[in-house]
Amino acid sequence: MGMIVKSITDLRTTRSTLTGSIGFVPTMGALHAGHEELIKRSTKECNRTIVSIFVNPTQFDSTSDLEKYPRTLERDLELLWKNNVTVAFIPDVTDLYPDSYTYRVSEEKISDILCGTTRPGHFSGMLTVVLKLLMLVNPTRAYFGEKDYQQLKLIEGMVEALFLPVHIIGCPTVREENGLALSSRNARLSPQGRELALFFARTLANFTLSVEEIREVLEKNSLRVDYIEERWGRRLGAVRVGSGVDEVRLIDNVKLP
Ligand code: PAF
Repeated sequence: MGMIVKSITDLRTTRSTLTGSIGFVPTMGALHAGHEELIKRSTKECNRTIVSIFVNPTQFDSTSDLEKYPRTLERDLELLWKNNVTVAFIPDVTDLYPDSYTYRVSEEKISDILCGTTRPGHFSGMLTVVLKLLMLVNPTRAYFGEKDYQQLKLIEGMVEALFLPVHIIGCPTVREENGLALSSRNARLSPQGRELALFFARTLANFTLSVEEIREVLEKNSLRVDYIEERWGRRLGAVRVGSGVDEVRLIDNVKLP
């Protein structure tokens, strides 16, 4: 069993005792097989692995989305210990934001497209917390899923722009056998929502359809489309299923053939 560290002081003390290569997997908890793949890759490639569990309020654009984000700490910890994680870092909001978020990272190009058009401020919140975590953990390698492809691009860009001494490793999206990309938000889908989510994943990967046709097919089937676009050699999409407080936003992307 590894160690649970909550305060920044304790993290610094623990980190100073760790030698060799350090792998880092930042998460917001509600861990699934996609996170487990990142952790397994880290434990295979690095001497020690640190996983953070922190539901970062600054990257949520609505309080109801933040409140409804699934929280499964006990199960998450079991998954970490089963996978030989050395440290679970579980900070609280006031510790990570002593400045009350008056200092933040702002990127002015990639942040404004795709998810950025409907989620103002989301990427600043995400980049800010990732920068803080990288500064505190000081890992050799940090692992991120390709499912959040725009996020991965932004983190790679930040690391290059700010000369951060860490290797960013992007890992392929893990899917259910039926093709649905794993996501912590899937837990909030109703049975009908799951069918629609699966339909989204399959339609996005149908390369006989153009992006315009995909949008049309999805909208005809009661999915609300934020965007379907091709860039970076990928086809990326975001949709919303359900309505009101039960609305779930899903993103996915596939490599273009
Ligand atoms: O991908 C996530 O779970 C989050 O955006 C991250 C990278 C842990 C930052 O809060």
